Amino acid sequence: MTYLITGATGLVGSVITKQCADQGIKVHYLTTSKDKIRATENEQGFFWNPKTKEIDLNAFKGVTKIIHLAGATVAKRWTESYKKVILNSRIDTSRLLLESLQKIDHSVTQIISASAIGIYPDSLTKYYMESSTDKSDDFLGNVVEKWEEEVDNFSTIGLKVSKVRIGLVLSDKGGALPKMAQPVKFGVGSAFASGKQWQSWIHVKDLAGIFIFLAKNDLGGVFNGVAPDAVSQNKLIKAIGSALEKPVFFPNIPAFVAKLLLGEMAQLVLSSQRVCSGKIRQHNYQFKYPKIDVALNDLLG
Ligand SMILES: NC(=O)c1ccc[n+]([C@@H]2O[C@H](COP(=O)([O-])OP(=O)(O)OC[C@H]3O[C@@H](n4cnc5c(N)ncnc54)[C@H](OP(=O)(O)O)[C@@H]3O)[C@@H](O)[C@H]2O)c1
Repeated sequence: MTYLITGATGLVGSVITKQCADQGIKVHYLTTSKDKIRATENEQGFFWNPKTKEIDLNAFKGVTKIIHLAGATVAKRWTESYKKVILNSRIDTSRLLLESLQKIDHSVTQIISASAIGIYPDSLTKYYMESSTDKSDDFLGNVVEKWEEEVDNFSTIGLKVSKVRIGLVLSDKGGALPKMAQPVKFGVGSAFASGKQWQSWIHVKDLAGIFIFLAKNDLGGVFNGVAPDAVSQNKLIKAIGSALEKPVFFPNIPAFVAKLLLGEMAQLVLSSQRVCSGKIRQHNYQFKYPKIDVALNDLLG
Protein backbone atom coordinates (compact mmCIF):
# COMPACT_ATOMS: atom_id res chain seq x y z
CA MET A 1 0.00 0.00 0.00
CA THR A 2 1.42 3.41 -0.95
CA TYR A 3 0.15 6.86 0.01
CA LEU A 4 1.29 10.07 -1.67
CA ILE A 5 1.71 12.95 0.77
CA THR A 6 2.17 16.62 -0.11
CA GLY A 7 3.63 18.81 2.64
CA ALA A 8 5.06 15.61 4.17
CA THR A 9 8.14 17.47 5.41
CA GLY A 10 6.06 19.78 7.65
CA LEU A 11 4.84 19.56 11.25
CA VAL A 12 1.82 17.35 10.54
CA GLY A 13 3.16 15.53 7.48
CA SER A 14 6.28 14.26 9.26
CA VAL A 15 4.13 12.62 11.96
CA ILE A 16 1.77 11.09 9.36
CA THR A 17 4.83 9.73 7.52
CA LYS A 18 6.15 8.17 10.72
CA GLN A 19 2.78 6.60 11.58
CA CYS A 20 2.55 5.23 8.01
CA ALA A 21 5.97 3.60 8.42
CA ASP A 22 4.86 2.10 11.76
CA GLN A 23 1.80 0.62 10.02
CA GLY A 24 3.67 -0.73 7.00
CA ILE A 25 2.31 1.90 4.57
CA LYS A 26 4.86 3.14 2.01
CA VAL A 27 4.99 6.89 1.50
CA HIS A 28 5.74 8.83 -1.65
CA TYR A 29 5.97 12.54 -1.03
CA LEU A 30 6.15 15.67 -3.16
CA THR A 31 8.47 18.42 -1.99
CA THR A 32 9.37 21.84 -3.35
CA SER A 33 12.94 21.48 -2.00
CA LYS A 34 15.30 19.20 -3.88
CA ASP A 35 17.46 18.90 -0.78
CA LYS A 36 14.54 17.32 1.13
CA ILE A 37 14.34 14.39 -1.29
CA ARG A 38 15.17 11.10 0.42
CA ALA A 39 14.82 7.47 -0.55
CA THR A 40 14.51 4.86 2.19
CA GLU A 41 12.72 1.53 2.49
CA ASN A 42 9.53 3.34 3.59
CA GLU A 43 9.74 6.73 1.91
CA GLN A 44 10.53 8.16 -1.52
CA GLY A 45 10.61 11.89 -2.21
CA PHE A 46 9.78 13.52 -5.55
CA PHE A 47 10.22 17.11 -6.71
CA TRP A 48 7.46 19.49 -7.71
CA ASN A 49 7.17 23.18 -8.33
CA PRO A 50 3.48 24.07 -8.25
CA LYS A 51 4.19 27.64 -9.46
CA THR A 52 5.74 26.47 -12.73
CA LYS A 53 3.61 23.29 -12.86
CA GLU A 54 6.70 21.09 -12.79
CA ILE A 55 6.05 17.68 -11.22
CA ASP A 56 7.69 14.26 -11.21
CA LEU A 57 4.81 12.00 -12.29
CA ASN A 58 6.62 8.93 -10.89
CA ALA A 59 5.27 10.14 -7.54
CA PHE A 60 1.85 8.65 -8.44
CA LYS A 61 3.16 5.14 -9.24
CA GLY A 62 1.29 2.51 -7.19
CA VAL A 63 -0.47 5.17 -5.11
CA THR A 64 -4.03 4.58 -3.89
CA LYS A 65 -4.50 7.56 -1.53
CA ILE A 66 -3.30 11.15 -1.56
CA ILE A 67 -2.90 13.10 1.67
CA HIS A 68 -2.70 16.76 0.70
CA LEU A 69 -1.20 19.12 3.28
CA ALA A 70 1.00 21.49 1.25
CA GLY A 71 0.57 25.20 1.72
CA ALA A 72 2.60 28.22 2.81
CA THR A 73 2.52 28.83 6.57
CA VAL A 74 -0.04 31.31 7.91
CA ALA A 75 2.28 32.10 10.85
CA LYS A 76 4.15 34.80 8.96
CA ARG A 77 3.17 38.47 8.69
CA TRP A 78 0.16 38.87 6.39
CA THR A 79 1.41 41.52 3.97
CA GLU A 80 -0.71 41.91 0.84
CA SER A 81 1.86 39.99 -1.21
CA TYR A 82 2.24 37.21 1.38
CA LYS A 83 -1.56 36.80 1.56
CA LYS A 84 -1.43 35.87 -2.12
CA VAL A 85 1.25 33.26 -1.37
CA ILE A 86 -0.95 31.74 1.38
CA LEU A 87 -3.89 31.38 -1.00
CA ASN A 88 -2.07 30.55 -4.23
CA SER A 89 0.13 27.87 -2.66
CA ARG A 90 -3.04 25.94 -1.76
CA ILE A 91 -4.78 26.53 -5.11
CA ASP A 92 -1.71 25.82 -7.29
CA THR A 93 -0.80 22.58 -5.49
CA SER A 94 -4.39 21.27 -5.63
CA ARG A 95 -4.70 22.12 -9.34
CA LEU A 96 -1.37 20.56 -10.25
CA LEU A 97 -2.33 17.30 -8.52
CA LEU A 98 -5.68 17.22 -10.33
CA GLU A 99 -4.20 18.08 -13.74
CA SER A 100 -1.54 15.40 -13.27
CA LEU A 101 -4.13 12.74 -12.44
CA GLN A 102 -6.14 13.76 -15.52
CA LYS A 103 -3.06 13.12 -17.69
CA ILE A 104 -1.99 9.68 -16.48
CA ASP A 105 -3.27 6.19 -15.77
CA HIS A 106 -3.40 5.91 -12.01
CA SER A 107 -4.79 3.89 -9.13
CA VAL A 108 -5.73 6.77 -6.79
CA THR A 109 -9.22 6.42 -5.27
CA GLN A 110 -9.26 9.08 -2.54
CA ILE A 111 -7.78 12.43 -1.58
CA ILE A 112 -7.72 13.50 2.06
CA SER A 113 -6.94 17.19 2.24
CA ALA A 114 -6.06 19.50 5.05
CA SER A 115 -8.49 22.34 5.65
CA ALA A 116 -8.89 24.57 8.72
CA ILE A 117 -11.42 25.55 11.36
CA GLY A 118 -10.79 29.15 10.30
CA ILE A 119 -13.69 28.53 7.90
CA TYR A 120 -16.06 28.94 10.88
CA PRO A 121 -16.88 32.50 11.98
CA ASP A 122 -15.44 33.96 15.15
CA SER A 123 -17.93 33.26 17.98
CA LEU A 124 -17.80 32.80 21.74
CA THR A 125 -21.14 31.00 21.84
CA LYS A 126 -21.60 28.83 18.72
CA TYR A 127 -20.58 25.18 18.66
CA TYR A 128 -19.58 24.19 15.16
CA MET A 129 -20.35 20.82 13.59
CA GLU A 130 -19.28 19.85 10.07
CA SER A 131 -22.86 20.49 8.93
CA SER A 132 -22.61 24.18 9.87
CA THR A 133 -23.27 26.45 6.90
CA ASP A 134 -21.76 29.49 8.65
CA LYS A 135 -18.67 30.70 6.79
CA SER A 136 -16.27 33.32 8.07
CA ASP A 137 -15.78 36.18 5.61
CA ASP A 138 -12.40 37.30 6.96
CA PHE A 139 -9.11 36.56 5.18
CA LEU A 140 -8.57 33.06 6.57
CA GLY A 141 -12.20 32.11 6.10
CA ASN A 142 -12.00 33.08 2.42
CA VAL A 143 -8.75 31.17 1.92
CA VAL A 144 -10.18 28.01 3.46
CA GLU A 145 -13.41 28.25 1.47
CA LYS A 146 -11.52 28.57 -1.85
CA TRP A 147 -9.12 25.78 -0.83
CA GLU A 148 -12.02 23.43 -0.07
CA GLU A 149 -13.73 24.32 -3.38
CA GLU A 150 -10.52 23.47 -5.21
CA VAL A 151 -10.26 20.11 -3.42
CA ASP A 152 -13.91 19.29 -4.21
CA ASN A 153 -12.94 19.28 -7.91
CA PHE A 154 -11.24 15.88 -7.42
CA SER A 155 -14.71 14.32 -7.33
CA THR A 156 -15.08 15.21 -11.04
CA ILE A 157 -12.50 12.50 -11.81
CA GLY A 158 -14.16 9.96 -9.52
CA LEU A 159 -12.03 10.36 -6.39
CA LYS A 160 -13.54 10.24 -2.93
CA VAL A 161 -12.86 13.63 -1.30
CA SER A 162 -12.22 14.02 2.43
CA LYS A 163 -11.44 17.32 4.10
CA VAL A 164 -10.05 17.65 7.62
CA ARG A 165 -10.80 21.03 9.21
CA ILE A 166 -7.76 21.26 11.44
CA GLY A 167 -7.70 23.17 14.72
CA LEU A 168 -4.71 24.40 16.71
CA VAL A 169 -2.13 21.63 16.30
CA LEU A 170 -0.14 20.94 19.46
CA SER A 171 3.36 19.57 18.94
CA ASP A 172 6.67 19.90 20.75
CA LYS A 173 8.48 20.23 17.40
CA GLY A 174 6.95 23.51 16.20
CA GLY A 175 3.72 25.38 15.54
CA ALA A 176 2.01 27.43 18.24
CA LEU A 177 2.79 25.43 21.40
CA PRO A 178 6.54 26.12 21.79
CA LYS A 179 5.82 29.84 21.18
CA MET A 180 3.10 29.83 23.86
CA ALA A 181 5.18 27.78 26.30
CA GLN A 182 8.34 29.93 26.06
CA PRO A 183 7.01 33.00 27.98
CA VAL A 184 5.26 30.70 30.50
CA LYS A 185 8.65 29.09 31.25
CA PHE A 186 10.01 32.55 32.06
CA GLY A 187 7.00 33.41 34.25
CA VAL A 188 5.50 35.97 31.82
CA GLY A 189 2.96 33.86 29.95
CA SER A 190 -0.56 35.18 29.49
CA ALA A 191 -3.60 34.95 27.21
CA PHE A 192 -4.73 37.63 24.77
CA ALA A 193 -7.75 39.94 25.18
CA SER A 194 -10.43 38.46 27.48
CA GLY A 195 -8.86 35.00 27.10
CA LYS A 196 -12.39 33.64 26.74
CA GLN A 197 -11.87 32.81 23.07
CA TRP A 198 -12.23 29.08 22.36
CA GLN A 199 -9.16 27.16 21.29
CA SER A 200 -10.08 23.97 19.48
CA TRP A 201 -6.75 22.20 19.75
CA ILE A 202 -5.55 18.73 18.72
CA HIS A 203 -2.45 16.69 19.58
CA VAL A 204 -0.42 16.23 16.40
CA LYS A 205 -0.37 12.43 16.84
CA ASP A 206 -4.18 12.31 16.98
CA LEU A 207 -4.42 14.51 13.89
CA ALA A 208 -2.01 12.26 11.98
CA GLY A 209 -4.08 9.30 13.17
CA ILE A 210 -7.27 10.87 11.77
CA PHE A 211 -5.76 11.30 8.27
CA ILE A 212 -4.70 7.64 8.18
CA PHE A 213 -8.03 6.51 9.68
CA LEU A 214 -9.97 8.31 6.90
CA ALA A 215 -7.72 6.74 4.28
CA LYS A 216 -7.90 3.23 5.70
CA ASN A 217 -11.67 3.36 6.18
CA ASP A 218 -12.44 5.10 2.88
CA LEU A 219 -14.38 7.86 4.59
CA GLY A 220 -15.32 10.88 2.48
CA GLY A 221 -16.76 14.28 3.46
CA VAL A 222 -15.81 16.95 5.96
CA PHE A 223 -14.36 16.04 9.36
CA ASN A 224 -13.34 18.43 12.11
CA GLY A 225 -9.77 17.66 13.17
CA VAL A 226 -9.98 18.78 16.78
CA ALA A 227 -9.92 17.06 20.17
CA PRO A 228 -13.18 16.55 22.09
CA ASP A 229 -12.10 19.07 24.75
CA ALA A 230 -11.95 22.63 23.33
CA VAL A 231 -10.82 25.07 26.03
CA SER A 232 -10.66 28.82 26.50
CA GLN A 233 -7.32 30.51 25.86
CA ASN A 234 -7.13 31.35 29.59
CA LYS A 235 -7.47 27.65 30.39
CA LEU A 236 -4.95 26.66 27.73
CA ILE A 237 -2.30 29.02 29.12
CA LYS A 238 -2.99 27.81 32.68
CA ALA A 239 -2.78 24.18 31.51
CA ILE A 240 0.60 24.94 29.87
CA GLY A 241 1.69 26.46 33.22
CA SER A 242 0.58 23.30 35.08
CA ALA A 243 2.41 21.00 32.64
CA LEU A 244 5.57 23.10 33.09
CA GLU A 245 4.96 23.50 36.84
CA LYS A 246 5.04 27.30 36.44
CA PRO A 247 2.38 29.61 37.86
CA VAL A 248 0.57 31.88 35.39
CA PHE A 249 -0.27 35.18 37.06
CA PHE A 250 0.40 37.86 34.42
CA PRO A 251 -2.57 39.98 33.26
CA ASN A 252 -3.88 39.24 29.77
CA ILE A 253 -2.36 41.07 26.80
CA PRO A 254 -4.92 43.56 25.42
CA ALA A 255 -6.27 42.97 21.91
CA PHE A 256 -4.83 46.27 20.61
CA VAL A 257 -1.31 45.17 21.62
CA ALA A 258 -1.79 41.89 19.73
CA LYS A 259 -2.88 43.89 16.68
CA LEU A 260 0.14 46.21 17.00
CA LEU A 261 2.52 43.26 17.30
CA LEU A 262 0.98 40.95 14.71
CA GLY A 263 -1.06 43.17 12.40
CA GLU A 264 -3.99 41.40 10.72
CA MET A 265 -2.44 38.07 11.72
CA ALA A 266 -3.63 38.83 15.29
CA GLN A 267 -6.78 37.05 14.10
CA LEU A 268 -4.92 33.82 14.87
CA VAL A 269 -4.79 34.57 18.61
CA LEU A 270 -7.94 36.66 19.01
CA SER A 271 -10.58 34.70 17.16
CA SER A 272 -12.72 32.05 18.80
CA GLN A 273 -14.04 28.82 17.28
CA ARG A 274 -15.55 26.12 19.46
CA VAL A 275 -15.54 23.08 17.21
CA CYS A 276 -17.02 19.62 17.74
CA SER A 277 -15.20 16.38 16.88
CA GLY A 278 -18.32 14.24 17.29
CA LYS A 279 -18.40 13.04 13.66
CA ILE A 280 -14.99 11.33 13.66
CA ARG A 281 -15.77 9.80 17.09
CA GLN A 282 -19.08 8.45 15.74
CA HIS A 283 -16.97 6.59 13.19
CA ASN A 284 -15.11 5.10 16.17
CA TYR A 285 -11.87 7.04 15.94
CA GLN A 286 -10.28 6.73 19.39
CA PHE A 287 -8.40 9.81 20.55
CA LYS A 288 -5.17 9.05 22.41
CA TYR A 289 -5.08 12.58 23.83
CA PRO A 290 -8.71 13.63 24.39
CA LYS A 291 -8.00 16.02 27.29
CA ILE A 292 -5.77 19.07 27.30
CA ASP A 293 -3.84 18.06 30.44
CA VAL A 294 -3.06 14.62 29.01
CA ALA A 295 -1.88 16.17 25.72
CA LEU A 296 0.28 18.82 27.40
CA ASN A 297 1.83 16.39 29.85
CA ASP A 298 2.86 14.27 26.88
CA LEU A 299 4.33 17.24 24.99
CA LEU A 300 5.76 19.38 27.79
CA GLY A 301 5.78 17.30 30.96
N1 LIG B 1 -0.39 23.48 12.25
C1 LIG B 1 -1.62 23.95 12.48
O1 LIG B 1 -1.93 24.38 13.63
C2 LIG B 1 -2.65 23.95 11.37
C3 LIG B 1 -3.95 24.43 11.66
C4 LIG B 1 -4.90 24.44 10.65
C5 LIG B 1 -4.55 24.01 9.38
N2 LIG B 1 -3.29 23.57 9.12
C6 LIG B 1 -2.95 23.18 7.74
O2 LIG B 1 -2.45 21.86 7.69
C7 LIG B 1 -1.43 21.76 6.69
C8 LIG B 1 -0.19 21.16 7.32
O3 LIG B 1 0.16 21.98 8.42
P1 LIG B 1 1.64 22.00 9.03
O4 LIG B 1 1.56 22.69 10.32
O5 LIG B 1 2.24 20.65 8.93
O6 LIG B 1 2.36 22.97 7.98
P2 LIG B 1 3.94 23.21 7.77
O7 LIG B 1 4.74 22.63 8.87
O8 LIG B 1 4.09 24.67 7.46
O9 LIG B 1 4.25 22.35 6.46
C9 LIG B 1 3.62 22.62 5.23
C10 LIG B 1 4.44 22.02 4.10
O10 LIG B 1 3.92 22.56 2.88
C11 LIG B 1 4.97 22.74 1.95
N3 LIG B 1 4.92 24.14 1.44
C12 LIG B 1 5.21 25.27 2.12
N4 LIG B 1 5.06 26.34 1.32
C13 LIG B 1 4.68 25.85 0.11
C14 LIG B 1 4.39 26.45 -1.14
N5 LIG B 1 4.46 27.78 -1.31
N6 LIG B 1 4.04 25.64 -2.18
C15 LIG B 1 3.97 24.29 -2.01
N7 LIG B 1 4.25 23.67 -0.87
C16 LIG B 1 4.60 24.45 0.18
C17 LIG B 1 6.30 22.50 2.66
O11 LIG B 1 6.82 21.26 2.18
P3 LIG B 1 8.12 21.21 1.19
O12 LIG B 1 9.12 22.18 1.75
O13 LIG B 1 8.57 19.78 1.35
O14 LIG B 1 7.64 21.54 -0.16
C18 LIG B 1 5.91 22.38 4.13
O15 LIG B 1 6.67 21.39 4.80
C19 LIG B 1 -1.19 23.18 6.16
O16 LIG B 1 -1.85 23.32 4.91
C20 LIG B 1 -1.84 24.06 7.20
O17 LIG B 1 -2.39 25.25 6.68
C21 LIG B 1 -2.32 23.53 10.09
